[in-house]
Amino acid sequence: MAETQQGTHNKRAIVTGGTRGIGRAIVKELASGSYRGVLFSDIAFIYNSCDECAEELKNEINFPNVKIHSFKSDAASFEQTQATVNEILKKLGGVDILINNAGITKDNLLLRMTEKDFDDVIATNLKSVFNCTKAVVKSMVSQRYGRIINISSVVGLIGNAGQSNYSASKAGIIGFTKSMARELASRGITVNAVAPGFIQTDMTSKLNEEQINKLVQNVPMSRLGKPEDVAKVVAFLCSNDADYITGQVIAVDGGMTM
Ligand SMILES: NC(=O)c1ccc[n+]([C@@H]2O[C@H](COP(=O)([O-])OP(=O)(O)OC[C@H]3O[C@@H](n4cnc5c(N)ncnc54)[C@H](O)[C@@H]3O)[C@@H](O)[C@H]2O)c1
Repeated sequence: MAETQQGTHNKRAIVTGGTRGIGRAIVKELASGSYRGVLFSDIAFIYNSCDECAEELKNEINFPNVKIHSFKSDAASFEQTQATVNEILKKLGGVDILINNAGITKDNLLLRMTEKDFDDVIATNLKSVFNCTKAVVKSMVSQRYGRIINISSVVGLIGNAGQSNYSASKAGIIGFTKSMARELASRGITVNAVAPGFIQTDMTSKLNEEQINKLVQNVPMSRLGKPEDVAKVVAFLCSNDADYITGQVIAVDGGMTM
């Protein structure tokens, strides 16, 4: 088993939203193969902005046996995602792991939230998970192996004032994850969600010091998390050590939602 796609070697992964923050840390963590020698032959990341960041990430990763591919595509668009994922499947000869990470925020209290703010966040955060999963699932079913990891959020579990669109999208991901886990378990495919707490990325850099101090008061570990904290859990879920885990939501939140 060790030398097959199902074993610990030569895995092929797609990561959405790979250029920054948590997605970037996931690409780097998987490429390093540091989780108990789970080695990747190819990692394709999808991003929708910042070509320089994509190039920079590809240049930054320097492990001889892993090829990093970048694809500019809007994960919220069904048509673009089908075309992009088909191109990736052709290039890589299939895919073993899908990490649905792309996400945005457009925060506002409901009274001030526009229909567009709501629709954009649902399309990028939730519909993208449907788009990408639908595009890879046939290939995973035919090889009877796959790992799908969806990046949700603690606010999908507990809600957050000013984030009704974002919380709904992240709670939706959890429902989608559990339904997919039930549909795909008999085909050798596991589907899990990771729910990060507040992690230091561009997404949270919009918060001011006062907001961060207030947030940290609810975190038993009294600090924000790092993108690498999330990436390491994703790497574990990609490994054979996680073979019997499906339909779960793993919070990486410094104890916030215990
Ligand atoms: N940072 C946090 O505190 C936090 C907490 C919980 C969950 N999350 C979730 O983790 C994920 C990553 O967040 P982050 O903090 O790294 O965000 P980020 O803003 O730093 O990065 C987001 C990434 O998503 C990509 N992206 C956005 N829209 C896209 C689209 N339509 N198509 C393709 N790619 C797109 C961007 O190019 C970027 O690479 C998101 O799903 C986010 O909701 C973040």
